[in-house]
Amino acid sequence: MPRRLSDQAPDVAATAAEVLTGLRESPKRLPCKLFYDERGSQLFEEITRLPEYYPTRAELSILETRASEMAAHLGPRCLLVEFGSGSSLKTRILLDELVEPAGYVPIDISKEHLLESAAELAAAYPTLEVLPVCADYMTEVEIPATKIAPARRTVFFPGGTIGNFHRQEAVDFLARKADLVGAGGGLLIGVDLDKDPEVLNQAYNDSQGVTAEFNQNVLVRLNRELGADFRIDCFRHRAFYDRVAHRIEMHLDCLEDHVVHVADEEIAIRKGESIWTESSYKYSIPDFQDVAVQAGCVPSKLWTDDRDLFSIHFLTSEV
Ligand code: AVJ
Repeated sequence: MPRRLSDQAPDVAATAAEVLTGLRESPKRLPCKLFYDERGSQLFEEITRLPEYYPTRAELSILETRASEMAAHLGPRCLLVEFGSGSSLKTRILLDELVEPAGYVPIDISKEHLLESAAELAAAYPTLEVLPVCADYMTEVEIPATKIAPARRTVFFPGGTIGNFHRQEAVDFLARKADLVGAGGGLLIGVDLDKDPEVLNQAYNDSQGVTAEFNQNVLVRLNRELGADFRIDCFRHRAFYDRVAHRIEMHLDCLEDHVVHVADEEIAIRKGESIWTESSYKYSIPDFQDVAVQAGCVPSKLWTDDRDLFSIHFLTSEV
């Protein structure tokens, strides 16, 4: 069993305030972290297995062929801190190659999912100290102390989730993580690469409608957790690649005029209006390296899959 959970999760009031702020803006928006309740995490795992959704398979193929090289860059007695750890499936490939890791800190916003994954991981790696933290990784997260003193910290942020941030937010996020690991610390970041818009559009508009359900589930969640009354059938999934901004945008299009109550407040949504639920930026390699440099990191090494769909960057912190 992992040591007991460090619970730094946001409370209902904080979530309600954030939701109301987003819904009062124009265009209306919701933070994409809200996708990941228990059902949403399940749906995301389904997405990763869809034929159209290439990022997970591409990233896994990089890890499977290059994990020992990555482990050499991380070095012995490294403390691995993962943001948005989910099922920790990718981490296992890395852990299999790490030399005497000082510990593993999985950080995720989905509590049940995190606890389950952490317990499974601790059972599979009996000598590894697993210290789960439930938190929104946009907040200052406190890293628990390990029994073995780490030689260095490395932040692991796979999946291309860095793409959820607008460019300046990505710089700020990396700068904070560079600060967290300290000078000489490492950052191992999965970054989805820019590519044929047709491939991208299909990845976010799968034929089985799993991505659509994943998108709509955020409203189901708000109905349950904030006592909201969104009519789910009044919102339709829409995702498209914006070639100028180099990003996928996901929206929920409103099909009928609608008054929604959220945490006892009224929000009017008109037919034809949308709620912007996610951005997923796609980078070229030099473009991402530029983001890293702006964040005070040195791009030290990078790996791609054989079709150049996805990249994993090893950065070292200078701050
Ligand atoms: C987990 C944020 C990397 O942007 O591709 C998948 C989430 N959204 N399908 C992505 C997602 C729609 C995913 N990330």
